Amino acid sequence: MKFIPINKPFLGVREKKAVNDVLDSGILTDASFEGGKYVKEFEKKLAAHVGVKHVIAVNSGTAALQTSLMAYSIKAGDEVIIPAFTFEATANVVVACNASPVFADIQSDYTIDPKDIRRKITKKTKAIIPVHLYGYPVDLDEIKEIAQAHSIPVIEDAAESLGAEYKGTQTGQTDDSACFSLYATKVITSGEGGAISTNNDELAEKLRLMRNHGMKYGYDTRILGYNFRLPEMAAAMASVQMDRLSEFVSARRRNATALTEAIAGLKGVSMRQTKTDRSHIWYLYTLYIDKGRDSLNERLRAKGVGSSIYWKTPVNKMKLYEDLGYADVKLPGVYDAVDHVLSLPVHPEVTESEIQYIAAELKTALETK
Ligand SMILES: Cc1ncc(COP(=O)(O)O)c(C=O)c1O
Repeated sequence: MKFIPINKPFLGVREKKAVNDVLDSGILTDASFEGGKYVKEFEKKLAAHVGVKHVIAVNSGTAALQTSLMAYSIKAGDEVIIPAFTFEATANVVVACNASPVFADIQSDYTIDPKDIRRKITKKTKAIIPVHLYGYPVDLDEIKEIAQAHSIPVIEDAAESLGAEYKGTQTGQTDDSACFSLYATKVITSGEGGAISTNNDELAEKLRLMRNHGMKYGYDTRILGYNFRLPEMAAAMASVQMDRLSEFVSARRRNATALTEAIAGLKGVSMRQTKTDRSHIWYLYTLYIDKGRDSLNERLRAKGVGSSIYWKTPVNKMKLYEDLGYADVKLPGVYDAVDHVLSLPVHPEVTESEIQYIAAELKTALETK
């Protein structure tokens, strides 16, 4: 059995042709306010899918988050509440604005705990960044209610959740801002890339300025911005990938259902992302392993199953954040999760027989532990 990776890019002839067309055109990027032909095409498709008025393509999910924080004028002295169980980009962008991340705990489904947000919110809190972790939406209604009561925005970190729905609505359908990633192993990809969605006209205008040095008509910087533009080759690839998104999500759901059935009744493991008012896209199919998670991971990998751990270290315990004084924040849910989570491959190219193989290897490894 060949090694089954946890995730990978899925690129076909259409993506290759799209990239080649850009190369042939000689127009590799477009520094206008609206962006190039393929940037606009990708933005239109993503906006239609998410159901928002505006999408602003940028060159990474990190840039999407950073631009959002800048657009909300997050600065020194401000606090931003984020989960400690996430990829570090969610925290790094807060530090990049000279603001202070406030790490919140997570619930048993690994998403940010609204109760802890309520405990930690202060007058200094200027935004909340919940993370739709592994492709599973957070408790958006409750989080929005808290944010509205404090008149602050919810910036959704939707880097892992393109296509997921919360109460029948796509993640990222928002009057505030939501941030997607097009990194090489994300649900869809352009190599590196990202996008911001919003229904807010004023915010969209600001975000477009900020991705392009604050310029509207060229060489007329109005506000501080950077070069966060998505190149045309990447946008062309992303545009084709948008056409395949539904097919990718269906395949992930089919594989996740098959894996759940194949491991039903197995002792010592549990699926915790199961709330029925939201639809998972299974960017990562993540089990809670009662005992021996690390050795199980090694055994599965030795058998060709690309099981993976996201993440072993909470962000607040990474060196930068320890140096900033966050090492001892009380986050019992987070410290439990980092010792027990294990993700298994269910990406669109995992076959039915590979799902059975993954389930069988998981059973064997647990029984002979
Ligand atoms: C939860 C989360 N937030 C933010 C990011 C940052 O996205 P990017 O790698 O495109 O900068 C990622 C992915 O890498 C992520 O998984």
